[in-house]
Amino acid sequence: MAVVSAETAGIRTTGLTKSYGSVHAVRGIDLVIAPGETVALLGPNGAGKTTTVDIFLGLARPDGGTVFVFGASPTEAVRSGWVGAMLQSGSLPDHLRVRELVTLLASYYPHPRRVDEVLDQTGTADIAGRWTNKLSGGQAQRVRFAAALASNADLLILDEPTAGIDVEGRREIWRAIRAVAERGKTVLFATHYLEEADANADRIVLIARGEIVADGPGSEIKAKVGSRTVKATLPGVELAELRALPGVLGAERHGEAVTLSCSDTDAALGALFGSFPAVRDVEVRGASLEEAFLELTGDEHGDQDAKVEASRPGNEEPG
Ligand SMILES: Nc1ncnc2c1ncn2[C@@H]1O[C@H](COP(=O)(O)OP(=O)(O)OP(=O)(O)O)[C@@H](O)[C@H]1O
Ligand SMILES: [Mg+2]
Repeated sequence: MAVVSAETAGIRTTGLTKSYGSVHAVRGIDLVIAPGETVALLGPNGAGKTTTVDIFLGLARPDGGTVFVFGASPTEAVRSGWVGAMLQSGSLPDHLRVRELVTLLASYYPHPRRVDEVLDQTGTADIAGRWTNKLSGGQAQRVRFAAALASNADLLILDEPTAGIDVEGRREIWRAIRAVAERGKTVLFATHYLEEADANADRIVLIARGEIVADGPGSEIKAKVGSRTVKATLPGVELAELRALPGVLGAERHGEAVTLSCSDTDAALGALFGSFPAVRDVEVRGASLEEAFLELTGDEHGDQDAKVEASRPGNEEPG
């Protein structure tokens, strides 16, 4: 068994790659997560979050690169009870009641938490006596979260922990996750929601089409992807002139229409009207997370591989 030292990163991975046939799900991820950090893996559908997380859990084998969890292989770390997990998909075993299931799963870990406390914290105390195959989707999700929490493992890996959960439930889940983090545990969670990532993580790792496109504290990431877009009809003006306007991060043209991505739309609009009185049809809107990702990766046309699916708009707020 590997020795866990203070110097050993919670997760350390270099050059991680994984393909499914012709789909390059993960293409060269380098990441170090320090013990005690709470990190959000944020990205749109198909970005490679689950694939990455599955590799960290030893559930998927990478094609290339290295991955260490507390200095050990993922499989070894999981077997040693260092990692508690909640997968994105996964059914609950039948023929068990909720309390029995959580108790059973907790018993695989060296220092599990008190099951009653976990049931209380996850809003599952009321359904503790129910059969696991008779739960609603959100209830089953809460039970899966309760099982992860009961592990009391040093690293908690949660793949979209609040998917399908109501507003109050989400609040409870985040409260419980923050409490885990406050006890010095390492937490990695995957999400689509910038706001959720920002509110609950020390650091956001933005992933798109299998690559990390930004990595930093929420404020930094928000400034990058929280941009808004101004569209207008403005023939005959060079893009360079538009890009030089205050509050403007980037500009593109399609015929007479220009699209400006802006860090500060007030400043941008003031400058636009001031410099180009002929401007018309001005529209302002929030950029979706997908658009922000595409902008950050500098690839406006997407890609055949691990394509960003726009089925769930990224600027949709949780709640
Ligand atoms: N078992 C598999 N076989 C084939 N392709 C797969 C498999 N699992 C994932 N993929 C593909 O790999 C890419 C990354 O998928 P992944 O599940 O890692 O994305 P994700 O970021 O978790 O997305 P979501 O937000 O929808 O959960 C996608 O293009 C997906 O279709
Ligand atoms: Mg996923």
